[in-house]
Amino acid sequence: MNKIEKKPVKILFVCLGNICRSPSAEAIMKALVEQAEMEQCVEIDSAGLLSYHQGSLPDERMRIHARKRGYELISRSRPIETEDFFSFDLIIGMDDANIEELQQRAPGLEEAKKIRRMTDYCRRIQMDHVPDPYYGGHSGFEMVLDLLEDACDGLLEELRKS
Ligand code: 4NP
Repeated sequence: MNKIEKKPVKILFVCLGNICRSPSAEAIMKALVEQAEMEQCVEIDSAGLLSYHQGSLPDERMRIHARKRGYELISRSRPIETEDFFSFDLIIGMDDANIEELQQRAPGLEEAKKIRRMTDYCRRIQMDHVPDPYYGGHSGFEMVLDLLEDACDGLLEELRKS
């Protein structure tokens, strides 16, 4: 009766279009959280800074590369909204431009404090951003997945400690 239940940590991954990097981060993190049986403790979503791709499935190239590693990308692109800054606990951008834009859009200081950089959670690969793969070749998509798998491992580790 008196059981104190901890509220789940709500994480929002953000990139420019919400069709390559952030939906991949969402799928990878969901898979890790499921493996760790932590679904009750963590909620995960993704969004884009552009609304251009709203309603679309992730980019087909990204889906093919992700599927080879066992991730099905099934989320639909949506633009980030002001309400997201209040309802999520962590808002994680992929590169400098994402972080700057998120800082500009944050409705207040408290909400701006929730903004993080994805690569800050990396433990194995030393990179300061997850490069936009949209206009590049196949290796760019593999690089995105390598970085996101590394960062999601690190993020899960942080969540276990908290
Ligand atoms: P994302 O990649 O930010 O990782 O989803 C992009 C997707 C679309 C565009 C740019 C980046 N675009 O310019 O349409």
